[in-house]
Amino acid sequence: MQARTNELIEHDVSLRPFNTFGVDVRASMFARIGSIERLQQVLSDVRVIAAPRLVLGGGSNVLFTRDFDGCILKIEIPGVQCEDAGESWRVRVGAGEGWHSIVERLIDDGKPGLENLALIPGSVGAAPIQNIGAYGVELAERFDSLRVWNFGAGSLQRMTSDECKFAYRDSVFKHQADRRLIVDVTFALPRKWSPVADYADVAAELRQRNVTQPQARDIFSAVVAIRRRKLPDPLVFGNAGSFFKNPVVSRQQRTELIDRHPSLVSYDIGGGRYKLAAGWLIDACGLKGAVRGRAAVYDKQALVLVNLGGATGAEILALAREVQDAVRARFGIELDPEPRIIGHAAVA
Ligand code: FAD
Ligand code: EPU
Repeated sequence: MQARTNELIEHDVSLRPFNTFGVDVRASMFARIGSIERLQQVLSDVRVIAAPRLVLGGGSNVLFTRDFDGCILKIEIPGVQCEDAGESWRVRVGAGEGWHSIVERLIDDGKPGLENLALIPGSVGAAPIQNIGAYGVELAERFDSLRVWNFGAGSLQRMTSDECKFAYRDSVFKHQADRRLIVDVTFALPRKWSPVADYADVAAELRQRNVTQPQARDIFSAVVAIRRRKLPDPLVFGNAGSFFKNPVVSRQQRTELIDRHPSLVSYDIGGGRYKLAAGWLIDACGLKGAVRGRAAVYDKQALVLVNLGGATGAEILALAREVQDAVRARFGIELDPEPRIIGHAAVA
């Protein structure tokens, strides 16, 4: 088996092309996983058995702060299968498919439902990890089930939405990292489609385009345009989207904050809980556009940290800690990082 797996595993590989922060770290082993059979072959290699492993999709929600001494499993499992399930289309998609191209392909195919999530970078297999969300829709709302390779059991398992424990930027996978590899995701796209167009930015963009009865394509184009304006292109400035989650506080906490900071941006999420706009909190600390060496707080969206060119993961993490300290000192609020930080503890 060893002889056969030699050609499947590359050694001492730069991960720079494989993370959207563009951080130049190296992995001691790197294997492309295009099928379950290939996964089983790679996992049977004694060097892989003995080493830490990391499942990687598009690398758009990770920050490497040092070299990875283990095996990267780069997910490239392809495939799209559609099934008529009565009231919905059930669409099973391989974990290695690109998220945005699947969203667009399904709309072209007359199966809308994911248009609000257009232009989110990364792979389909990573989408459930943090229950990706944008412009009024979360993955969980279009989800049927998924299949994982369970490393402990050495077998495939199906998981329902309840088992995935989806919440805002959260799932069971975030708390049990590297126990399971998502092989494919099945979406449930309602055949009776209705637009989700009440998110302020989307509503304004549609108004500006004189669209009164939006079709899925209109929402798709509006979301793409908004995102292109607001978020940095990782090919220009390395980034992982929002670096922090929007913090959730109680009604009383929010009232106290509003008394002191009347322009604070917050959203009622029900149950007496409020989501605060972390971008506003960072902005209010005067950190929007702050440059620290080769890392910066993006000057158009304070929730995004960027690599101006050649920054190390440790430099970006140091800036993240400065932001956390400033927000804690001014507002008494703890900001939790959204990307997975690989190499160092997230918070000092
Ligand atoms: P990776 O970064 O490769 O991995 C992320 C995590 O998932 C890691 O812990 C990894 O181990 C794990 N993982 C990856 N694939 C698998 C698998 N098959 N099985 C098990 N574990 C796996 N996110 C949003 O929610 N909303 C947004 O609007 C949004 N906008 C963004 C904009 C920009 C410009 C960028 C750069 C990022 C944005 N993100 C957003 C974050 C990111 O795109 C998503 O979290 C995306 O789902 C990550 O996919 P990926 O394949 O790149 O994951
Ligand atoms: N704001 C500021 N200053 C800033 C940035 C934001 O004051 O520098 C305020 C503005 O008032 C704005 C509000 O914050 O109205 C919210 O900003 P925005 O609409 O840009 O959304 P966000 O809360 O910063 C979230 C997600 C994004 C997602 C968008 C659209 C999180 C952590 N981030 O950003 O997701 O695309 O909403 O739904 O929930 C990601 O997760 O990587 C990501 C990009």
